[in-house]
Amino acid sequence: MTKLRQKIAKRDHGKNTAMSKSTRADKIEFSKLPPSQRGAPGAGGVVDVTQEIERVTIESKRERYQKEQEERELHESKDEQYYKEVAPGISINPALSLVNRQQVVVTSGTDAADVSQANELAVRFGLDYVPLHQLQTMPQQLFTYQLALAVASGRLSLNDLELYEGKSGGIRRKMTCEVTLDFTSGELFYKIKERTFAKSPMVRSVRCPEVPATVLDVTGGLGKDAWVIASFGSKVTVVERNPILHYFLECALDKARKNPATKDIAARITLIKADSVEYLCSIINREPSEQPDVIYMDPMYLSKSDSAKQARALSKKDIRAIRKLVGGDRESKLLFALSKRIAQKRIVWKKPKTVAPIIGIDTHYSSSDTRFDVFITATKKVVNPANGAETTTDPRSSSSNNSSGNNGLDNKAKGEAMSCIH
Ligand SMILES: C[S@@+](CC[C@H](N)C(=O)[O-])C[C@H]1O[C@@H](n2cnc3c(N)ncnc32)[C@H](O)[C@@H]1O
Repeated sequence: MTKLRQKIAKRDHGKNTAMSKSTRADKIEFSKLPPSQRGAPGAGGVVDVTQEIERVTIESKRERYQKEQEERELHESKDEQYYKEVAPGISINPALSLVNRQQVVVTSGTDAADVSQANELAVRFGLDYVPLHQLQTMPQQLFTYQLALAVASGRLSLNDLELYEGKSGGIRRKMTCEVTLDFTSGELFYKIKERTFAKSPMVRSVRCPEVPATVLDVTGGLGKDAWVIASFGSKVTVVERNPILHYFLECALDKARKNPATKDIAARITLIKADSVEYLCSIINREPSEQPDVIYMDPMYLSKSDSAKQARALSKKDIRAIRKLVGGDRESKLLFALSKRIAQKRIVWKKPKTVAPIIGIDTHYSSSDTRFDVFITATKKVVNPANGAETTTDPRSSSSNNSSGNNGLDNKAKGEAMSCIH
């Protein structure tokens, strides 16, 4: 009985501490208000006004979120006007290249330089800024964010947010799965230095059989695969549509260009902020000599039918937060169909091992949970087993003589591409 009483007393004490903390925070907010909005001073006045501020804040947040939700729904609806036509019959959803303001928040501690950098980022991406101490304690009903873009001692990171019960019993929030990007130090840097990747399935899948001169990575992400490929001598063009990931990559490449140990690899990488469907349509009519030898794809898989193995492969720290940020990539087949008209030597498609290969794959390379499917686009020699006669086939042939002016997409390519998006 005494134990139970002690337990209850402890719990109630926790509640009081949590309450006094939140009241303190609200008082700070209150003191920031112009005098006309502070209400009458006096006993109990602060409590009333605090509640009023909370009510108004909740209402205005709700209104804003509702408006934003409506805007997003319009963007995401299959209404033609919200889709951008990139080629006859092919349209892309511009919402996929936007940051979701309700999902991501910018935060920092109290260091003045960090606060200023974080606020610049908030303006750049059109996101809210919430100081770290408020992010940790903000009531759930005011908080819609799932990810935090944090600045700490000038270092940028993307973080997942997790709720936990504080020591005093109140619900708190902490940042987990910190994603940072730096090509000049850390595990990736040392593995590249020691040429650990020379025999990796990814590098073997991209070689054809020599190191290709040019590679186009149409699903850039944090650019780690592109960095490894470039470290073997290829020139790599990286396309990423998500503005936050593009920014991470831009900053990391800037830093790598200034470091003597990484500047040569960085010099081989060109970063493009675009949707790859649009980008591929824009280069489809180029001369073959100006087109990439290899197109590399590593889309994000999210389907509910993911097996436990696939889920394990995806739950690696970086991927968990990035998966939340970008969602699932739905145009992989469209990217593949377009790539078939462009890649001069091969397409490499990285997939969880449990996802079926696309029909027509020539070979593959596997690691424990990932498979790199290779589709050869260069002219192939086919030997007729009946008479030994050799014929050649060119998987790119239907577009190689294209002069239709339809953004390089002939009827066959268009048909293939269309069947991918419906
Ligand atoms: C799994 S991540 C790629 C990870 C990357 N290979 C790495 O090593 O860091 C997939 C990325 O592809 C990007 N992506 C998917 N479809 C795209 C498209 N059509 N255009 C541009 N980027 C795309 C997503 O935004 C996401 O960042």
